[in-house]
Amino acid sequence: MDDKQEIVICLGSSCFSRGNRLCMGIIEKFLKDNHLEERFFFHGSRCFDKCDKGPILKIGDKIYEGVKPEDIVDLLNRTLNIT
Ligand code: FES
Repeated sequence: MDDKQEIVICLGSSCFSRGNRLCMGIIEKFLKDNHLEERFFFHGSRCFDKCDKGPILKIGDKIYEGVKPEDIVDLLNRTLNIT
């Protein structure tokens, strides 16, 4: 069984154009730089039907709203239990 924690980025057009296009690359780089690709399953998703609260990122069961590229590394450091 795959026990990787899931990180899902909304790639719907609203979230994508408002920041998730950049966040996608930042998250990929963060996972790579920290050698976390084996521990996390990072992938995109269609619209979460929360466009008015986007950009949306889901880590595990928790949905983060209004995610900004400039805040994403801090969010990952706070939420991914990587130490
Ligand atoms: S495009 Fe992301 S919630 Fe709709």
